[in-house]
Amino acid sequence: MSAERPNTSAPSASQMWGGRFARGPAAIMEKINVSIDFDKRLADQDIAGSKAHAAMLAKQGIITQADADAIRDGLDRVKQEIDSGAFVFKTELEDIHMNVEARLAELVGEPAKRLHTGRSRNDQVATDFKLWVRDAMDRMDAGLAALQAALIDLAEQHTDTVMPGFTHLQAAQPVTFGHHLLAYVEMLGRDRGRFRDARARLNECPLGSAALAGTPFPLDRHMTAEALGFNRPTANSLDGVSDRDFALEYLAAASICAVHLTRFAEEIVLWCSDQFRFIRLSDAFTTGSSIMPQKKNPDAAELVRAKAGRVVGALNGLLMVMKGLPLAYSKDMQEDKVPVFETDDTLALCVAAMEGMVRDMTPNPKAMREAAERGFLTATDLADWLVRVLGMPFREAHHVTGRAVKLAEDKGVKLAELPLADMRSIEPRITEEVFQVLTVEASVASRQSFGGTAPTRVQEAVKAARERFL
Ligand code: ARG
Repeated sequence: MSAERPNTSAPSASQMWGGRFARGPAAIMEKINVSIDFDKRLADQDIAGSKAHAAMLAKQGIITQADADAIRDGLDRVKQEIDSGAFVFKTELEDIHMNVEARLAELVGEPAKRLHTGRSRNDQVATDFKLWVRDAMDRMDAGLAALQAALIDLAEQHTDTVMPGFTHLQAAQPVTFGHHLLAYVEMLGRDRGRFRDARARLNECPLGSAALAGTPFPLDRHMTAEALGFNRPTANSLDGVSDRDFALEYLAAASICAVHLTRFAEEIVLWCSDQFRFIRLSDAFTTGSSIMPQKKNPDAAELVRAKAGRVVGALNGLLMVMKGLPLAYSKDMQEDKVPVFETDDTLALCVAAMEGMVRDMTPNPKAMREAAERGFLTATDLADWLVRVLGMPFREAHHVTGRAVKLAEDKGVKLAELPLADMRSIEPRITEEVFQVLTVEASVASRQSFGGTAPTRVQEAVKAARERFL
């Protein structure tokens, strides 16, 4: 097919703008212009928007009630055809809006031609897309809540399971496994909050902005806004058709959420390794190696870690599409949908996979405890004891503790196993009592500050998390 030659197999000119055009587009023009392959995902929203618009046109006396009824029934039939798979999407009709309208005309004739009164595809697509993104936000909220529920359930069983807490991925202080899991519950709670905030800003209806300037027809924009579940109509018609902030905010919230998931996914990868053995994933969430029979790989976690690239890429992609676009609508904005659809598919899959892994994982408290015993994790507890009991300044206590750690290291024993005489050789005022704070259990139990890792606090936090998030 030559790029210059008109596509002679297409209708001689568009059904929608045939008045001005003598013939159809070049094949390559149709190819670059067409969006039906992806925007067919807006079908439900497009039909809902058209039904609201037609009902409003009738109420305002712009079309007859009989026409509005015919349009409504016809749109219901179009929806049935789409749902059943019988609908034939046509690339020569470019996008979902024209596909639906053309089929409506085939089904109901004359009244269909009145549907586009007082509207344009510009406000139509902005409305459809907002409706779609709003649904996506609601689905995402439910998925994230389910992941939080899985984390909270697991945390509840491990409020006093001791594991090493890390900074710099170096064992730092003992924490409880439940406490660690609840950290992700907080992150996901903020992710849900970001989607909620964006949803509230999104929820103004562009319908009735028409092409860009508004319309001379006496529309009731408040009526269509309300019918479609929006809080109000958009206040400025130019902004109404050219705002894609809602998609950018969705992608930004999704990007942060995806990055959060990568952090947890990375920990799952680490925890499954033979070096950690903190958890085990069953056959249901691992794969084998075609060459190394001993392997069980945490592929799902690795893929969650990787797929964030697509989501962040989608955000960057749409930011670039929108950058420098003059008001109002430009065709560039047709490129808004693929990144959003791909992000929704990807993130929903990742959230579900994470929930699956959390429900699947078997923690290994013994391995966690052993790891917490290594590496002098209660050194800070010794320093704190010197401050509290002996009144030593913290900087000095830090120094004394450092010498005790070194001595224990040289002798190949844990801090709690260092004989009292050795302790006293470093600081003569140390008493037998010090050993009470040097076990990992005592260490976590002592961290009673609000938000701290003490099992009693974690039990409270589990309860509070259920109330706050579920
Ligand atoms: N398919 C278009 C989009 O997704 C619909 C709006 C087209 N508007 C126009 N003036 N050509 O953005």
